[in-house]
This record gives sequence, C-alpha cells and structure tokens, in this order.
Amino acid sequence: MKVSEALQSRISCRAFLPDEISLETVKSILETANAAPSGGNLQPWRVMAVGGEKLSGLFEQVREDMKETPRGQKPLFNVYPDDLQDPFYRRREKCGEDMYAKLNIVREDKRGRVAQFKRNFEMFGAPVGLFVFVDQAMEKMQWLDTGLFIQSIMLQAREAGLHTCAQGAWTFWHETVARHITPPENHVLVCGIALGKMDVDAPINQLRTDREPIESVAQFIGFDT
Ligand SMILES: Cc1cc2nc3c(=O)[nH]c(=O)nc-3n(C[C@H](O)[C@H](O)[C@H](O)COP(=O)(O)O)c2cc1C
Repeated sequence: MKVSEALQSRISCRAFLPDEISLETVKSILETANAAPSGGNLQPWRVMAVGGEKLSGLFEQVREDMKETPRGQKPLFNVYPDDLQDPFYRRREKCGEDMYAKLNIVREDKRGRVAQFKRNFEMFGAPVGLFVFVDQAMEKMQWLDTGLFIQSIMLQAREAGLHTCAQGAWTFWHETVARHITPPENHVLVCGIALGKMDVDAPINQLRTDREPIESVAQFIGFDT
C-alpha cells in the first residue's frame, strides 16, 4: 500500500467486526510505528496493547465506575481549550452533527447521543485497544512526538488491512485504565486507539469529514510560478 493510500483510506472507524487480531499483527504494527521520529530521539511514548478478557474486563470496570461518577474522572490535561473559538468550535460541532446524522440521532435525542458516546468505552466493538502514554515530565514537543507515533500506528494499521479510531475520550477514565492495566509509573494517558477490522456496512463508517482546502492551510512563498 502506498503512503498516500494509507493516508486517504484512514478514517476514524466507529464500528468494528469482532474478528480477532493476532498478537503477531499487533506487535508488527507497533514495531513499525516505533520508527516514528522524535526530537532528540527521546522516544517519549509508551503503548499498552490490550485484548481478550483483559479488554472486556476494562469495559466492565468503566461501566461499574460510571455508576459512581457518570462523567468520569477529570483528565490530567485540558483536552480542548476551555473557550474554544471559531473556526475550531464550528468544525468540532459539524463533525459531531455529521456523525449523529449518519446514525439518525437528532440533537434533541440526548440519550441517543450519550449512548453513542459511551460506545467509546467498548472501543466501538474493536477486539484490541491500544493505550498511549507519555512521560509526565515531557513538554509540548514530546507530546507532538507522541502524536507522530499515534499517526504512524494508524497508517501502519491500514497496511495490515485494519482500521483505527483515536479516542481522547479515554482520558475521562484514566484512573480506571491505570487501575486495570497498570501503566508505567509517572506516565499520562494521551489517548486510546481502537484497532480492528472495519464493519464496512455500518452507517457510521460512511462518515467522511471535511478538510480545509490546502490554500487555507499552507502558504507557498518564494517559488517560481
Ligand atoms: C487525538 C485524537 C482524539 C480523538 N478522540 C476521539 C474520541 O474520543 N472519540 C471519537 O469517536 N473520535 C475521536 N477522534 C476522531 C476525530 O473525531 C476524527 O479524527 C476527526 O473528526 C477527523 O475524522 P477522520 O479521522 O475520520 O478523518 C479523535 C482523533 C484524534 C486525532
């Protein structure tokens, strides 16, 4: 698969088939993604791959903890700016609205929206959950490095015929995750990543999000026209 094909076919998959993914496949994806660059070659990321009963046990634990604290635990970092302004606010709204529209969940259907959000904590049916951490002593640049690692995982998954969904939502359950899988000490959960085979018939997987035209994103200066 060409890099461009991997980039263009990667979407956030929100409905997976239950088909098992072998440990060998997961290892190979992570091993290749681990070639991601990092400033000073710090390699500040850590990843824990969770499957089988350990993963279903985590889903169960989140459901249990939801009874006590329905909104979860305060993330260890601000996931979005407190006062998200346009055009970012507008883009976020649209992405949510487009997603719920694919599922015919209208704005007034709060229960439907909450139920869909909770699917995050079942990895949308994926058989493997990856949990990505960064050393808590790290700065913004090392978080950026960790993002490169995450994208590398998502692209390499495409080459393996698999799909992914990065899930910041797991940061709301970072304590539950830590209790259940015991991450390395002094590491912050950056996000989860659902990994598996896409259910191509699921309406939610028909969602294709917008991108700004490249002219709005990039400037080209000093080239001969
Ligand atoms: C760091 C990160 C965290 C995300 N968190 C979630 C999440 O918790 N739940 C979810 O359904 N999608 C999540 N997404 C997916 C984004 O909504 C998605 O990438 C964006 O809308 C663009 O769509 P695309 O991935 O299909 O191209 C996340 C993506 C990233 C990169």
